[in-house]
Amino acid sequence: MTTDATPGIDPAPNPHATEEQVQAALKDTKLAQVLYHDWEAETYDEKWSISFDERCIDYARGRFDAIAAEEPLPYGRAMELGCGTGFFLLNLMQSGVAEKGSVTDLSPGMVKVALRNAENLGLDVDGRVADAEKIPYDDNTFDLVVGHAVLHHIPHVEQALREVLRVLKPGGRFVFAGEPSTIGDFYARWMSRATWAITTNVTRFGPLQGWRRPQEELDESSRAAALEAVVDIHTFDPDELAGIARSAGAAKVSTATEELAAAMLGWPVRTFEAAVPPEKLGWGWARFAFGGWKRLTWLDENVLRKVVPPKFFYNVVVTGAKPH
Ligand SMILES: C[S@@+](CC[C@H](N)C(=O)[O-])C[C@H]1O[C@@H](n2cnc3c(N)ncnc32)[C@H](O)[C@@H]1O
Repeated sequence: MTTDATPGIDPAPNPHATEEQVQAALKDTKLAQVLYHDWEAETYDEKWSISFDERCIDYARGRFDAIAAEEPLPYGRAMELGCGTGFFLLNLMQSGVAEKGSVTDLSPGMVKVALRNAENLGLDVDGRVADAEKIPYDDNTFDLVVGHAVLHHIPHVEQALREVLRVLKPGGRFVFAGEPSTIGDFYARWMSRATWAITTNVTRFGPLQGWRRPQEELDESSRAAALEAVVDIHTFDPDELAGIARSAGAAKVSTATEELAAAMLGWPVRTFEAAVPPEKLGWGWARFAFGGWKRLTWLDENVLRKVVPPKFFYNVVVTGAKPH
């Protein structure tokens, strides 16, 4: 049994890019997307602590409810753009948001892992390798289209949203979450860079050497970071993103932002986890990271949201509907 997207139609994953392909990808953002995400597909869930249990079901549902809590559920047929390993749609389906799903991604490796995850969860899901700017589904197919951390990778966001509206049924809704705000991306990058530099330098010599990852793994992370700079194309001001959605033809557009203090903990934590050997970090660390993130999320929602303007928060969420 294979979980490849559509054998014979969709391309196969390519997890081991050659040096020439990597060089070509530095000038071709879509090739970079495929190589980078095919390369990380099999380890992606571990790297980002993605799971399909209560913790991530609640997280995915929280992102959806941040902007679409009033909508009647469940949707019939839902599609995810840039699904990665299926984190958003599969967890939303588990929480009762949609009955049937289609996972799509430019990276064949990601579609393969997403389909495997769906199969393990017993969900009714099919999949296609798909460029968001040219979605391989008929007009008026879906009741809901979702995405998480995908719009900022797409060169022509308005074209992608036009395609989303084309494949939605009239009245159908889209929800895109987890997009970096312009200000949030600025502080997240600086905090990540500082964490990486401090961690990889203090573990060079002396008693902390045991906390240093092997040099070839650090070099590989640095090469990946070079491609990351090619695949991360946009950051968003919430009002500008709403304007792009309206220009694409969407009705009932709204945006929300989330995570300020939580993002300021989350980015250094993830960078630190990538910089040290995983076996050094046990359950105590996991509890600190998740507990800290939850407490700071509470602070964001109950205190900071009342005093800090929305554009300072890290994550942008946008929703809209296809006009009847
Ligand atoms: C940051 S990952 C997010 C994956 C997943 N949504 C998640 O939140 O875990 C971005 C995903 O978007 C995909 N992607 C990038 N450009 C795309 C495009 N033009 N069309 C469809 N998918 C794309 C990448 O291959 C990658 O899997």
